[in-house]
Amino acid sequence: MKTPIDSVANVPHERGNCAVQIDGVTKAFGKGEASTVALSGVDVHMFLGEMTLLVGPSGCGKTTLISIIAGLLNPTSGSVTILGTRLDRLSGSKQVRFRAQNIGFVFQQYNLLPTLSAVENVAVPLLIAGMSRRLAVQHAAKMLGAVELEHRADARPNQLSGGQQQRVAIARSLIHEPRILVCDEPTAALDTQSGQNVMQLLARVAVDQNRAVIIVTHDNRILQFGQRIIHMSDGTVEFVDDKSKGEGHDRQ
Ligand SMILES: Nc1ncnc2c1ncn2[C@@H]1O[C@H](COP(=O)(O)OP(=O)(O)O)[C@@H](O)[C@H]1O
Ligand SMILES: [Mg+2]
Repeated sequence: MKTPIDSVANVPHERGNCAVQIDGVTKAFGKGEASTVALSGVDVHMFLGEMTLLVGPSGCGKTTLISIIAGLLNPTSGSVTILGTRLDRLSGSKQVRFRAQNIGFVFQQYNLLPTLSAVENVAVPLLIAGMSRRLAVQHAAKMLGAVELEHRADARPNQLSGGQQQRVAIARSLIHEPRILVCDEPTAALDTQSGQNVMQLLARVAVDQNRAVIIVTHDNRILQFGQRIIHMSDGTVEFVDDKSKGEGHDRQ
């Protein structure tokens, strides 16, 4: 399948290239006295071929930040450059198209459709994009193979374990070959072993397939998987652990 990103984004997709550049981003919800400042000046970079973890206490702005990266929220000020494109400057419909082509999502609660089989769930984004059912299911079956679930293609979500459901959700999130995968607490509902399996899979997605995988997490059991760990508190980045430079050297 052709990767649609080639026609949209401006950055060469080489390993280590910047996928996400956030400069001076602020976000306030509401106005005046009732306003909440969720982000108060964030500067960060995230790279292709790397898994980046976003950690910090509840309410520090993690979900707001990945929603801005994914184009689901606009920042109040600052710039958001994704794969060389100023996402905050695109019009609404172009943002939607950019997101559909370049960004995949994985959520804590899988969000699979209960009446569809595993392979049908994975095929849904292709069917929505207008692909024929036969081709969409063919692609989806291949993608299920990549998450080692080809043998469960016909199972419904309630016949799968939590870890298997999350792997189906990951296969679905990758079916349109996004360069950036955004995950909000993907292991929070999983037991330790399933969480480790899911993280190993996501690490392969980042390193072997040269994508930027960005994971919000509370889960200390998975910190070891991050190449870059962004520690947030109170709407700002406290410091960044960049493992390629040794712990804590890349403070921002
Ligand atoms: N839609 C919203 N309206 C008003 N306040 C919000 C909204 N979303 C988040 N907030 C507030 O912004 C802050 C950061 O929230 P969030 O990004 O969800 O934090 P985290 O994901 O780190 O727990 C919190 O104080 C939260 O209450
Ligand atoms: Mg959150």
